[in-house]
Amino acid sequence: MWNTLAPVYDRIIGRLLNNDITVIKQIIHWKKSDVVLDLGGGTGRVAEQLQALVEKIIVADPAEKMLVRAKRKGLHTQLLTDVTLPFPDQTFDVVTLIETFHHFKNQTESLKECYRVLKSGGIVLMEEPNPTSFLKHFLWVERLFDHVTYRTPKELKLLLQTIGFQVIKEQPGRLMYFTVAKK
Ligand SMILES: C[S@@+](CC[C@H](N)C(=O)[O-])C[C@H]1O[C@@H](n2cnc3c(N)ncnc32)[C@H](O)[C@@H]1O
Repeated sequence: MWNTLAPVYDRIIGRLLNNDITVIKQIIHWKKSDVVLDLGGGTGRVAEQLQALVEKIIVADPAEKMLVRAKRKGLHTQLLTDVTLPFPDQTFDVVTLIETFHHFKNQTESLKECYRVLKSGGIVLMEEPNPTSFLKHFLWVERLFDHVTYRTPKELKLLLQTIGFQVIKEQPGRLMYFTVAKK
């Protein structure tokens, strides 16, 4: 599905989401020394905005055609073929999962992988649609096209805690919510 959407993603879906960039830039303290993994980063919509704030950002995604777009923006990319991330333990200071986690088929295993590749004290930053918001009336649309599992902020917090993360910030939005957790 994402390979098919790649040519129009930034112009249509990306545009609808772009209000999140301000929050993403402010919700954690980005450091010039940060090495960042943008997991499910797609076309690099978000990574493009963050790259000047950090040392290095890698966009990792299973959709090759989404990554082609990210590469054209001059971003580092990594094609994913498995739930196991192709990075050594404790590689990253921050892992971002922006508007992507609800598409993951194996959410628990993926979050365990995020935990593994984060340095001790590293941060995971997630943005997800809130299924208890007004958006709940429209989420069925996404279900027509893709496998999706939506979690409420409370459910996501519990899952992160089960894996060993400490949730340090939760920011509700009108439609989306942000969760920040520490390893
Ligand atoms: C709505 S797009 C979000 C892209 C980007 N994060 C953004 O905010 O513009 C969802 C992305 O999740 C990716 N994705 C789906 N399943 C995934 C998985 N198991 N691991 C990593 N990425 C995945 C898709 O290929 C797609 O690029």
